[in-house]
Amino acid sequence: MSRRYCCQTSGQQNAFNMPRYFSLFVALATAFALYQYSDFVGRGVQVWLGQDEPSRQLPGWSPSSYIGLEADITKRDAIVAAFRHAWLAYERDAMGADEYHPISRKGSNLTEEGGIGYTVVDALDTMLLMGLDAEYQRARTWVEEKMTFERDADFNTFETTIRVLGGLLSAYHLSGGDALYLTRARDLADRMLPVFDTPSGLPLSMVNLQKRQGVHDKDNPGLVSTAEVSTIQLEFRYLSELTDVDVYWKKAERVMAVIRTARMPPGLASIFMDVREGRFITSAIRLGSRGDSYYEYLLKQFIQTDRTEGVYREMYEDAVQAIHDHLVQKSLASGLTYTAELIPERNSADPHAQLSWRLTPKQDFLVCFFGGNLLLSATRSGALVQDVSVPPRLEELSEVGRRDWTTGVELIRTCMDTHDTKTGLAPEIAHFRIPSDNMQSVLNAPGDWYIKGARAGEFPPYDARYMLRPETVESLFVAFRLTGDKRYREHGWAIFRAIEAHCRIPSGGYATIVNVDEVPVRHEDKMETFFLSETLKYLFLLFSDGDTIPLSKYVFNTEAHPLPIFTPSIRTGFS
Ligand SMILES: *[C@@H]1O[C@H](CO)[C@@H](O)[C@H](O)[C@H]1NC(C)=O
Repeated sequence: MSRRYCCQTSGQQNAFNMPRYFSLFVALATAFALYQYSDFVGRGVQVWLGQDEPSRQLPGWSPSSYIGLEADITKRDAIVAAFRHAWLAYERDAMGADEYHPISRKGSNLTEEGGIGYTVVDALDTMLLMGLDAEYQRARTWVEEKMTFERDADFNTFETTIRVLGGLLSAYHLSGGDALYLTRARDLADRMLPVFDTPSGLPLSMVNLQKRQGVHDKDNPGLVSTAEVSTIQLEFRYLSELTDVDVYWKKAERVMAVIRTARMPPGLASIFMDVREGRFITSAIRLGSRGDSYYEYLLKQFIQTDRTEGVYREMYEDAVQAIHDHLVQKSLASGLTYTAELIPERNSADPHAQLSWRLTPKQDFLVCFFGGNLLLSATRSGALVQDVSVPPRLEELSEVGRRDWTTGVELIRTCMDTHDTKTGLAPEIAHFRIPSDNMQSVLNAPGDWYIKGARAGEFPPYDARYMLRPETVESLFVAFRLTGDKRYREHGWAIFRAIEAHCRIPSGGYATIVNVDEVPVRHEDKMETFFLSETLKYLFLLFSDGDTIPLSKYVFNTEAHPLPIFTPSIRTGFS
């Protein structure tokens, strides 16, 4: 049973509660009205607010919560302590294994042929950033002496790229150019190149690293996920930039050219493509799994090469326009902004029947990256100046940038609302109320969202879990860096406290919980590698100062590995 049926909102956990928003709105509306009606009064208001020149702020902005980008050392150190609690347990029980199970205190590997450094490589750059020298040196030694890709088994192309290749490349950069990592990165990428040998140029989902062979995904033969083929470009392009060997760049770029040609009319992209023909297959359209990082990497490729490749801005802007036209929705009671999914349906067994698209009010936890992504795009592709202020001023953003900023702020607010559960952690999937859902008659029906299929006394549905995912804190980090607004740190700290309270295993490590609406919690025996690589890194950066991995110099891959922005020496091969 979802908390939406049983408990009252505890306003304390959620700083974005309605009364506070309302008073903020009244204050802003009053200030704006005064500004409109009289320059003199408006000027007075600005002086009173501590601003010495007239400026117009964007929605969601509250001058009283601006704190700048100084570090909060106490909180930052608490995140480092949590990282050590997680890492030292892994090192004690499972060093070198791909995955860690903190309750049974065991490691396991993705395949029976042995590990490929999934956890170790994913965690390297976090240790470098946190200044954990002893831990880092031991991990480096493991990479030098034990890590091998000589494994006769199939590995997922996308996951291996974002975690292992991405982890090696950011470790290379942040270590000041330790050649060990570049050698390993190149070895891995060379073993993966054959995945691109398909008629379309789209990469196969799996790769045998020893045989150097692309392999079809057995569950979806002939198909590839849109997000998976379009979320390897930052890594392969940076490798070419570092090595002066352009084959990595060219193979990854070709995928983008195929997608651009295959684009469906309104700028949206289905989650599956045909790997032979390079076409979209009729399948769901969403910002959640198998769709998410397609949108992310369109923007980030534009940012990676210092905004020189206009084709990615264009593709990104088309996609975000389509998202606004088709997927952005408001929840029933409080008008929370969320993104729905479009599911294709044929109304009868007749294959010639008209295809229709059903709007499904379901949002994955994964979608919570998108709030921060929109704030970032508002200040990059949506900016009228090279360097926008912190926080951005209205006049610095284009109309599209302002729209994206507003949607981004609202989406982050929605994601925070989904943390309003008994544990303070958000579920894997939230369903939003719509007028036709027949829930009006249900006693204490939730106003805005609920966990589908949750019933008292039964094992919780998959949707109810929290698996240490980073997407909300990722958006909070980006939002804080772009605004200096302390509310984003407050939210991040509340999430960290909830993780400490409910996911921490006393003997070491952190674990997934199976129901965010149940206290005391039940754990599942798994600590995902992205907890070390992403969740704790974004939390650490949220409380670090603004010069630690500044967004003006770095772009994060989808596994939170920071890669430097550069001026490309290779020209975009399509337009
Ligand atoms: C996993 O692979 C590593 C090599 O990277 C090996 O040392 C370890 O024994 C393997 N673990 C299991 C549980 O098979």
